[in-house]
Amino acid sequence: MLNGSETPPEPARRGLVVAIANQKGGVGKTTTAINLGASLALEGHSVLLVDLDPQGNASTGLGARTSDGGRSVYSVLIGHSALDEVVVPTSVDNLALAPASIDLAGAELEMVSMLSREQRLAAAIAPVAGEYDTILVDCAPSLGLLTINALAAAHELLIPVQCEFYALEGLGQLMDSIDLVRDSLNTDLYIGNVLLTMFDARTKLSTDVAAQIRDYFGERVFRTVIPRSIRLSEAPSYGEPIELYDRMSPGAVAYRYVAMEFLQRHRQQEQAR
Ligand SMILES: Nc1ncnc2c1ncn2[C@@H]1O[C@H](COP(=O)(O)OP(=O)(O)OP(=O)(O)O)[C@@H](O)[C@H]1O
Ligand SMILES: [Mg+2]
Repeated sequence: MLNGSETPPEPARRGLVVAIANQKGGVGKTTTAINLGASLALEGHSVLLVDLDPQGNASTGLGARTSDGGRSVYSVLIGHSALDEVVVPTSVDNLALAPASIDLAGAELEMVSMLSREQRLAAAIAPVAGEYDTILVDCAPSLGLLTINALAAAHELLIPVQCEFYALEGLGQLMDSIDLVRDSLNTDLYIGNVLLTMFDARTKLSTDVAAQIRDYFGERVFRTVIPRSIRLSEAPSYGEPIELYDRMSPGAVAYRYVAMEFLQRHRQQEQAR
């Protein structure tokens, strides 16, 4: 299923769009979006996090209010606002947020009859892309129109995979969707990285699943794994990324390493050109 020989597309020096997707629920997409975003921002990179999930977890996790549909990704997708009109700052310098509200759930239906319904996010990002080094898109746990918009807008994908028994289940479906998007909407969509999350070194299951994922995805899997850590699950209720909530906790350290690996790969890819 995975075409190992594909080469990364021409890099976007600024405005690299990364969709964080896995249609399986609760695997760490939002935790990764918030904390990779914050770690990159603290490294001095300008980051925009687009919350593309009607649950709005990335928005609340960064302390944003999510009730105001007028200033959210929903109004962008239905064409009422430009993306830069809804962007708000966060408690982290260099990390901006385009928040989601619950009405985003309705956008999926409203967009069905709209022109270029799969390309609406791509079109909204294009005018602001140059203002950020990286644009992270936090996807909902589905392969519906919202996620298709993310895949159509992205240069590359980051797939968080939870180290549990059913981890591989559903990845085939995700690969099929990626192939469909490549065929019709975004030929260059690239699987940039896979991140192993909620790793528990004490269990054989975590170790076995991690080995299977590394067999399948090879070099694309971040060497760093995200450990299961209570502090990571507490931080969102304070509206803070782990870097602000408890920067010495194992989860904070791990996300810092992930950010470094991410930046290193992009530097290497750029040098290879
Ligand atoms: N490494 C971790 N250690 C402990 N808890 C974690 C870790 N990563 C995420 N969690 C917790 O697990 C739950 C699911 O994580 P998260 O919301 O990031 O997943 P998700 O893939 O975005 O979920 P959804 O599919 O619903 O959008 C959350 O309560 C989160 O705080
Ligand atoms: Mg989420």
